[in-house]
Amino acid sequence: MMKKTIASLAIALVGTSALAEVNYQVIPLPQSITLDANGKTTALVKGQAVAYPAENALMKRNAEFAQEFLGLVPQPEVAAKKKAKKKNVAPVRLALGLASDNPDAYQITVDKKGILVQGASESGVFYGIQTLRKSIEQEKGDSVPLPWATITDAPRFQYRGTMLDCARHFFPAEYIKTFIDILALHGVNKFHWHLTDDQGWRFEVKALPELAKKGSYRPHTIIGSNVGLRDADNAIYDDTPEEGYYTQEQLRDIVAYAAERYITIIPEIDLPGHMVAALSVYPELGCTGGPYFVRPYWGIDPDVLCAGNPKTLEFIKTVLGELCEVFPSKFIHIGGDESPRVRWEKCPKCQAKKKELGLEKEAQLQTYINKEVEKFLAGKGRELIGWDETLEGGLSENATVMSWRGFKGGIEAARLHHRVIMTPTSHCYIDYYQLKNQHAQPHGIGGYLPLSKVYSLEPIPEELTAEEGKYILGAQCNLWSEYVLSPSHVEYMLLPRLAAMCEVQWRPAGEKSFEEFTERLAGLEKMYRRLGYKFCTSYE
Ligand code: ACM
Ligand code: ZN
Repeated sequence: MMKKTIASLAIALVGTSALAEVNYQVIPLPQSITLDANGKTTALVKGQAVAYPAENALMKRNAEFAQEFLGLVPQPEVAAKKKAKKKNVAPVRLALGLASDNPDAYQITVDKKGILVQGASESGVFYGIQTLRKSIEQEKGDSVPLPWATITDAPRFQYRGTMLDCARHFFPAEYIKTFIDILALHGVNKFHWHLTDDQGWRFEVKALPELAKKGSYRPHTIIGSNVGLRDADNAIYDDTPEEGYYTQEQLRDIVAYAAERYITIIPEIDLPGHMVAALSVYPELGCTGGPYFVRPYWGIDPDVLCAGNPKTLEFIKTVLGELCEVFPSKFIHIGGDESPRVRWEKCPKCQAKKKELGLEKEAQLQTYINKEVEKFLAGKGRELIGWDETLEGGLSENATVMSWRGFKGGIEAARLHHRVIMTPTSHCYIDYYQLKNQHAQPHGIGGYLPLSKVYSLEPIPEELTAEEGKYILGAQCNLWSEYVLSPSHVEYMLLPRLAAMCEVQWRPAGEKSFEEFTERLAGLEKMYRRLGYKFCTSYE
């Protein structure tokens, strides 16, 4: 299945004389590239007009992207038509109306009439512009001859995500925009943003002003990768405070920036575990009452939100209420991973709640919280996503599962007709090393996830029936940041593995070839260099 060649990848090369410099074989490889046999080209000229339907703000914005990426000059449709009559000026046109069930579908037509980028919706046009941008990346000069061709593409999955953890290390708001640019370059449409954890709270809550102010600060961080080290006598810490949070104003600005690039931000407030940064500010929300401190070390913490304290749900609703005001995403991620129940087992409040609800095991207390949260979110027209642990005590009805501990949770959830996002550690954890030689890479959390392994991911497991397979919405890479210290380090971990994930998310089932992908990767890497993105320059 993996051994397909270019020829079988639905590329019809009708006569090789048509093969000019530009061949449209970018990442993601479009489903169909049909080059015209006559070998003719139409020039894409810098400063040329790009026409777009007037009175469509999104298409106007798309025309501005064509300006930024292709050097064109936006012109509302009517004005451009006149210009097109001039000889030797090939009009570039952005249009809607492509017939497809997939809103992200696009078609690029290059012929004697010019260059047409047509989408099934505005997002499709955006992806078409990105494909043109990548196609001409290698070309020098102000006029690029484009071979006459028809290029058609649409992504396989509706959910094409990437997760970034900004809790363990904080990356400034301005950098998040660059990160979003990188996602857009790779056809990603969901940015899963991990905003809170034991080591830092990064989301401003106006009703709880102390939360981000105090919860976002830790005076130092453990040195070394051994989680067990934190309790040992020989643990050492750096002298570097880690701090920072995003104001709601900054977040709204970032949400809008992402939306223009057809990326929805799915914020995550991880609960009821991974909450020690919040507990450090509000110790009464923990089972023992604390005191707690923002954790300067890694690993699963036994201290979690108290499930029996009514103030816990009040707190969650206050936080999620403001989160929903800032983030318009239908999906809200509520975490749910790695939440030990040792405190709940000993806590009188939790035990009383368990008795009151007639529950058999502590895991069901988490389901109780999830169901309350689900109701609250539903009241705001939102739906929850949880890590696959949320399956353990019985899942709330409408929840979507993010399968990270392998494929098992995702398979189970799909069989129960829950929607699933596949993000197994084996193929998606890009905090792992990408080369066998660890000394050739910055210090990391461990593991080994080479580019080829990411590329090999098939998000729909064979065990599922065709009907069950429809519950797999898509896949994503996760970048946890315990050992990721700077924006350039983020990029190093992300690239080029995001390019591999891009083809997992876009290419039709069974139509991937790693060898052939790596040939196209060279072009994308030149682009990374020109744009100043750091990346891992070798791969396995
Ligand atoms: C996770 O990696 N703890 C979801
Ligand atoms: Zn408790």
